[in-house]
Amino acid sequence: MIILALDVYERDRALKIAEDVKDYISMVKVNWPLIIGSGLDIIRELKERTGLKIIADLKLADIPNTNRLIAKKVYEVGADYIIVHSFVGKDSVLAVKEIGEIIMVVEMSHPGALEFINPLTDKFIEMANEIKPFGVIAPGTRPERIKYIRERLNGEIKILTPGIGAQGGKALEAIKAGADYIIVGRAIYSSENPREAARRIYEEVKGWSSG
Ligand code: XMP
Repeated sequence: MIILALDVYERDRALKIAEDVKDYISMVKVNWPLIIGSGLDIIRELKERTGLKIIADLKLADIPNTNRLIAKKVYEVGADYIIVHSFVGKDSVLAVKEIGEIIMVVEMSHPGALEFINPLTDKFIEMANEIKPFGVIAPGTRPERIKYIRERLNGEIKILTPGIGAQGGKALEAIKAGADYIIVGRAIYSSENPREAARRIYEEVKGWSSG
């Protein structure tokens, strides 16, 4: 039920943190900082060292052909899921889903999301219900929005919520509102003792979610 957002640059540090906390997490999410800092092969290494599923948080938002070219390489190194933006439209999203499992962004947590992305959440949910991704990203900072999205999203589609910890979101509130997975970055990897930080969050939410 906990996904580690491993937003560090360094390969050795990333591998150490992932190994330290792997008993308490379900998946590792890799974003551009780690890919730029350590190379794409870090996905394969993390998967081998932890045995966990890997989410590539690329937030892909290009034309179908470019999305496809990028996704192919990322699935090849072992990514289990790729996060894609919904606002580019169904063809771009489907270009990735034809190759592997995807997670769609339907709402974001930062203030700027209110300008363009969040007003379109209903349309993104509609698209997700049609496309049937593994899951969608919803803001862990706003439990009422998680609940709103859960009520409209097909039951088998998972909700993954970043923004827990460093951005102010509360793990248990997000889960109670309907999140299947909580995504936690700095609250674990910037902690003096990442294993202990992960264990505390795990103890807080265990028993509440299916993830
Ligand atoms: P922290 O350190 O804040 O890391 O726990 C959060 C991770 O999740 C990503 N993130 C988001 N992704 N919609 C997204 O699609 C959001 O609203 C959102 N907020 C945070 C962030 O990039 C980091 O990897």
